[in-house]
Amino acid sequence: MSSPAFSLKKLHTFAIETRAEKIVYAETPQEILAAWRECHQRNLPFLLLGEGSNVLFLEAFSGVIVVNRIKGIAITESIDCWHLEVGAGENWHGLVTYTLQQNIAGLENLALIPGCVGSSPIQNIGAYGVEIKDICEWVEILELESGQIKRLTAAECQFGYRDSIFKHRLQHGYAIVSVGFSLPKQWQPVMSYGDLTKMDAATVTPQQIFDAVCHMRRSKLPDPALTGNAGSFFKNPVITAEQAASLLATFPAAPHYPQSNGDVKLAAGWLIDQCQLKGYRLGGAAVHQQQALVLINAEEASAADVVALAHEIRQRVGKKFNVWLEPEVRFIGADGEKNAVEVIS
Ligand code: FAD
Ligand code: EPU
Repeated sequence: MSSPAFSLKKLHTFAIETRAEKIVYAETPQEILAAWRECHQRNLPFLLLGEGSNVLFLEAFSGVIVVNRIKGIAITESIDCWHLEVGAGENWHGLVTYTLQQNIAGLENLALIPGCVGSSPIQNIGAYGVEIKDICEWVEILELESGQIKRLTAAECQFGYRDSIFKHRLQHGYAIVSVGFSLPKQWQPVMSYGDLTKMDAATVTPQQIFDAVCHMRRSKLPDPALTGNAGSFFKNPVITAEQAASLLATFPAAPHYPQSNGDVKLAAGWLIDQCQLKGYRLGGAAVHQQQALVLINAEEASAADVVALAHEIRQRVGKKFNVWLEPEVRFIGADGEKNAVEVIS
């Protein structure tokens, strides 16, 4: 079989050369459906993509990549809230800046997160004290088998830390086509994280929070336009209170965040950093100097380099702390998603 024809290098932020049989840019739900039906008929793998900022292509994709470019932002209001209805293919950061320009606050903590609006509910994107679950009102999905569009309430999305129903029961056979957000007119700044805690709640403006978030992010996260990466490569591990007590007895300096159910979230970046892995390089892949949770394409990395590096990190952290990291990044094989933990184990 000849190698697939179309390069994916510019369609994902790791910027690793790989190919697909076909790429379709869909501007409407009908175009997504038509592409899916063609795949179904020809028995070809089908993969939806936003901006490719949370994927690692392990090899050439032997099917059709459908790039979601459904656009549109509509704003309505009720007595208490602004309501946004946003096409899944809108750029996330573009939405954040657009709402701020309209004097609508509430998205500023989530500035500079790469990717599309339609991908935001999938892992319940979050940063600097805010997650999508705090502001999402509904998600509209296209059921590919029936062609019907259905609206899920935020509660039905079952949001959790880097998790939602779209990673489980609704992972296959559905495309997210639009997302609804509800932003209270009575703005409450969220200043619980990092440098934001130093700001004055009485005088702070949404624009100042936006600027501070952009500054913090630019100081530690690599810009994918310059250096290939997919943000945090691993999720922060969540362990039981007993496991946390035992780990903290040996490593009292470990950053830890108690969760509402009694579990404790650890900082994977700190665990990796403690293994002296900042800057560590394997082939063309490396651990980012400023943030050990980010793996970068330092120099023409292959997917195999990234997988080997992730394996090494998981082993070293596991042996030192008995905590076994799991990728946040989604691994895509020739015919669809692979179990990332199995790939790096
Ligand atoms: P893609 O990578 O294109 O897709 C992700 C997954 O969703 C794939 O499995 C894909 O098949 C599926 N998918 C895509 N579109 C659809 C659709 N319409 N319907 C159904 N399935 C679909 N994340 C955070 O939460 N917080 C951060 O602070 C953060 N910072 C980051 C910083 C950097 C520098 C980078 C590179 C990434 C960061 N991320 C962060 C991760 C990433 O931005 C998010 O996961 C984002 O939501 C991915 O959007 P995307 O459009 O690029 O998704
Ligand atoms: N740390 C180190 N060394 C490192 C990295 C981090 O000691 O190399 C320590 C920090 O000093 C801090 C703690 O670990 O005490 C947490 O670090 P940071 O504030 O940078 O956040 P994070 O837990 O590494 C998470 C998200 C990010 C999100 C930030 C800000 C996950 C997996 N990652 O990172 O999301 O932007 O918080 O809220 O939850 C992403 O998902 O791709 C992403 C970038």
